[in-house]
Amino acid sequence: MEVSTSVLTVKKDNCIKTFYNLEAAGTDYFHIDVMDGKFVEDDTSALMKEYCEYLNSITNIPLDVHLMVSDVMSYINSYLVYEPRCITVHYEAAKDREQLMNWINYIKENNIKVGISVKPQTDIKEIYELLPYIHVVLIMTVEPGKGGQALIPDTIEKISKLNEYRQQNNLEFDIEADGGINSENIEKMREAGCDIVVAGTYIVNSENYKEAINSLK
Ligand code: DX5
Ligand code: ZN
Repeated sequence: MEVSTSVLTVKKDNCIKTFYNLEAAGTDYFHIDVMDGKFVEDDTSALMKEYCEYLNSITNIPLDVHLMVSDVMSYINSYLVYEPRCITVHYEAAKDREQLMNWINYIKENNIKVGISVKPQTDIKEIYELLPYIHVVLIMTVEPGKGGQALIPDTIEKISKLNEYRQQNNLEFDIEADGGINSENIEKMREAGCDIVVAGTYIVNSENYKEAINSLK
């Protein structure tokens, strides 16, 4: 299991030290939670840009960018400069399939992996037709917009269903789960077929980053 540590809960004072310690503790990615105050209530756009500036100058750990925004194209453009491992956009932010395919193609033209994220209440079947064209499905296991929420149990069924569909259709994409993940529910994530988990509060607020990350791996 790969671990993508969300930087949403990292406090700004001594954030550099925190990033160093998270890298030393073995995080596989830094998960950048970009919120615009429109698609979701909070606005983290300035803070996430600042964190990406720091991360770009101090580490080679890949960035896993999660755009919870309405004006998707302009945010894709402002994150290309960091050459992230992956840019993930929300299915629910698109007005139609054509717009989704435009975003997917644009991200890929920039040699960046593309992810599609679905909110808890979105039926996973809605994105089946996109699966051959994307690298990651980010299953929200909490309602997007905040860190520190509890995992919504019936999202686990969605992960298993997607994993089954992936196997039946010989598809290659990664399944990534995001929200409320900790050592209590990680085994359910693994059984359901997750390849990557996002964790913010569980890791960043822990006594020992390495133990917390290893407990998920
Ligand atoms: C929520 C974000 C998640 C969240 C994860 O909108 O997409 O990445 O920050 O944080 P925890 O692990 O605290 O739920
Ligand atoms: Zn996220």
